[in-house]
Amino acid sequence: MTDQAFIKLDEVAKTYPTAGGAVPALSATSAIIREGEFVSIVGPSGCGKTTLLKMIGGLIDVTQGEIVLRGRQVNGPRDDVGFVFQGAVLLPWKTVLQNVLLPIEVHRPVTAKDRARALELLDVLGLANFEKRYPHELSGGMQQRVSICRALIGDPSCLLLDEPFGALDALTRENINVMFNELWRSTRKTVLLVTHSIQEAVFLSTRVLVMSRRPGEIVDDIAVDLPVVRLPEVIGSPEFGALANRIRPYFTKLAID
Ligand SMILES: Nc1ncnc2c1ncn2[C@@H]1O[C@H](COP(=O)(O)OP(=O)(O)OP(=O)(O)O)[C@@H](O)[C@H]1O
Ligand SMILES: [Mg+2]
Repeated sequence: MTDQAFIKLDEVAKTYPTAGGAVPALSATSAIIREGEFVSIVGPSGCGKTTLLKMIGGLIDVTQGEIVLRGRQVNGPRDDVGFVFQGAVLLPWKTVLQNVLLPIEVHRPVTAKDRARALELLDVLGLANFEKRYPHELSGGMQQRVSICRALIGDPSCLLLDEPFGALDALTRENINVMFNELWRSTRKTVLLVTHSIQEAVFLSTRVLVMSRRPGEIVDDIAVDLPVVRLPEVIGSPEFGALANRIRPYFTKLAID
């Protein structure tokens, strides 16, 4: 990990123009994400988390301010960023392997090397031998893992994940979290994860950013100084509890008007 900014948010704000008037979604927000960090963003529904991720991914414009990723201003989608959308969907008529290869297929013909890489990713995420299945033949957790493989296929240096595990049951989610920690340790990609789960945020991250109600702003920036290898046992540790307890009051406070 270096101290240089990998992602720099400089007074970034977003207001959506709508028929009913302007909707301020995100207040001017500044932050620096360093290379190799795993940063979770938590905050109340509607506070601008997805908006922020979409702006970093170059999918929507900023209203104000500037986003710089790896030294270059963001002004559109880029190959070095992988995105897993909130409620990500797979194409039902394509196999698992075809879904993973989709981002490549839209740019250029798929090679044997791409296929080998896709199979390797599926293996890492516990989906070996499922490549010929169709999405409806998989569980929700498996489908989410395919979406993650799809985001990783272009070998992006940065991963933006918008509640990728939100719809899963607690046990599946915990297992995927352990798998995802392994994946992050082995690849050391810079990750930004939006989640509604305090436990997931602490378990996966090196840092947690807490946002206020809409129009959101960052109200706390919490370093998670736990060992990088995270196993389920860590959840019961006093250090883990202390971190979760630091975040929890924001949710209670922010959830009430
Ligand atoms: N395309 C859009 N046009 C107009 N308003 C929008 C648009 N997208 C989002 N908003 C508004 O901006 C605010 C922030 O939305 P956003 O989706 O970023 O919130 P969020 O923090 O991701 O919420 P959640 O936790 O529910 O996913 C909300 O009030 C929403 O209604
Ligand atoms: Mg959202």
